[in-house]
This record gives sequence, structure tokens and C-alpha cells, in this order.
Amino acid sequence: MESQIESFRTEALAAIASAADEAQIESLRVQFLGKGGGLTAFSDRMREVSKEDKPRIGKILNETRSSVTTALDEKRSLLVAQSESLAFEGIDVSLPGTAAPVGALHPITQLMDRAISIFRRMGFALADGPDIETEWHCFDALNTPADHPARNEADTFYMPDGRLLRTHTSTIQIRTMQHCAPPVRIIAPGAAYRRDEVDATHLAQFNQMEGLYVDENVTLGDLRGTLEYFFRELFGKDAEFRFRPHFFPFTEPSFEVDIKAAALGGGRWLEIAGCGMVDPAVIEAVNAKRGDRALDPERHSGFAFGFGIDRLAMIMSGVPDIRLFTDSDQRFLAQF
Ligand code: DAH
Repeated sequence: MESQIESFRTEALAAIASAADEAQIESLRVQFLGKGGGLTAFSDRMREVSKEDKPRIGKILNETRSSVTTALDEKRSLLVAQSESLAFEGIDVSLPGTAAPVGALHPITQLMDRAISIFRRMGFALADGPDIETEWHCFDALNTPADHPARNEADTFYMPDGRLLRTHTSTIQIRTMQHCAPPVRIIAPGAAYRRDEVDATHLAQFNQMEGLYVDENVTLGDLRGTLEYFFRELFGKDAEFRFRPHFFPFTEPSFEVDIKAAALGGGRWLEIAGCGMVDPAVIEAVNAKRGDRALDPERHSGFAFGFGIDRLAMIMSGVPDIRLFTDSDQRFLAQF
């Protein structure tokens, strides 16, 4: 039996060595090691072996099993490696690959992020509010009377239930004061909606950034300093400012901010933002809703401002038509 095992081993190893592919390896594995296979037959015959020969023959049988198993495994890895390297034959790995297209943030998002990071340096927190608003948040609380033209059906998108698409981000002033007590210092970028005829300078949906600071002893000087710092960071240190008296229902006094800067072509004044000192009527409206006097018009004062981000982006990059920002044209967007 010993010599039979030996010749089984020799034949098995030779067959494995000359196997041509993985399928052959698997069928040899069954043939040599499987249930009805060669080695199992020898194991069955161990019963016939005399007691003193058993340990020796048993050892030979075990060694044979492990050398056949090893040979099968090694040959199999060799064949796999060969077929893999065959698959790469003829491929020039030094050729440049196919570049994956890399996207970028939309120019409006880029400007928003820049603006946010400048205000964050001054301690402003980011605030948010819903695009679908109540009339109270959009107008009443902001001291805008029922007969104000902005509330007209022709200017504002109303929902059947009386709510509306906010016409400005000033709603977030109200939402913030409803839930926070002074000191409150927030900026709120977001979409605003108006029933405007769409043209080169108007979209029915556009973007604004709102700011609000309420605390004790907040002055017009703070407002001016804050906006000047912000716009100088954006436009450069040479930017010049003009606060032009204006009217907004929710601030008193109110101003429009005009800017002149080399980065904006220099020369002419550009109207860039609205701002003012929070009207005590706004604070009283919020208090009435809150049911407390956490905001005290005798003690607290504040400033607010708002500007159009799309308009700012147009001025800064010399974009002649606001619609380019929403057209999703790669040739335009890839320039930012
Ligand atoms: N909400 C105004 C608009 O959409 C902009 C604005 C003006 C915001 C003055 C303010 C402000 O906070 O104080 O035209």
C-alpha cells in the first residue's frame, strides 16, 4: 500500500503541474481529495493495515494529502496570476488616464460662503427661516401696513391658504427675535421671491443676505463700521461709501449704501444694500407675539441690513445678465 500511495502522489503532482486552467484544478481537486477520490479510498483501506504499520502508513497518507492540497492551491494561484497579467497585456499603463470631471460650487454659493466667513469673523451667527412664510412675518411684524404696495397680489406670490413666498429675507429678523433674547447677532442668506418680469436684472427667485444686531447701545456707528468692514473685505481697502437716507418700514432711520471701488470699475456709485436702525415698532410686534419683554425698546437698540447676493455677484464679476446664474450653462459656470 505504501508504494501505491507513493505512485498516487507522483501521478497527482504531475497532473496538477500540467493543469492548464482553474477548471482543471478544480476537477483534479475532486478527483484526488473528493469523497470518492483517490486519497479517500486509501483512508478506507487503513482498516486492512496491520497494527504496527498503521502509524507509519497513516503519517504517509497525511503527508500526501497535504502535499497534494498545497500543490493544488499553489498551481491555482499561479494560473490566476497568469490570466490576470494576460488581461493587462497590450495595455500601456504609462498613458494618461481618463480624468474624472471635477465640479465646483456655483458662483452664488461661493460668494455666499465668502460673505458668511467675513461676518463670522465679526461674531455673526448663521440663521435660517422658511421660504414659505406668513404675512405676519413678511409684512405685519416688519411694520409694513396692509396697503403697502409690496403686499400687492401683483408683486407677491400668495398661496391659496394666505401664506406667501417671502419677498425678502427680513423675515428672519423676526424669526430670530421671536426665539432669542439680546444680544442677537445674525446673518441670514437665502432665497427671496417677487412677481417680477424676468429680464437681465430681475428673476422671480433671487438671493439675499440679511443681517441683524440687537443689543444694548448699538448705534448707527456700529452699523456703518460693520458694513464698511464687510464691503472692504469683499471689494478691497480702497472702497468708498455713501449712506444715502432712504425709507424702509422696518428701520428708522433707513439708508441705502452706495459704493465706489476700483474692483467695481471705479468711477460711479453703485447702490448695494439697504440698512437702518431697527424700528421700535418691530420690536414691539415681536414682543406682542412672544408675550414678554425680553426685547426692551428702552434698553435695546439694533441695526439691520439686507443686500442682493446675485446683484453683488453680477457687479463683482461683470456679469451682464442675472439669468446666466440660473441657466446651468457649463461655459458660463466653468469660469468661476
Ligand atoms: N428687505 C429689503 C429689501 O428686500 C432690504 C433691507 C433694507 C433689509 C433695509 C434690511 C434693512 O434689513 O434694514 O429690499
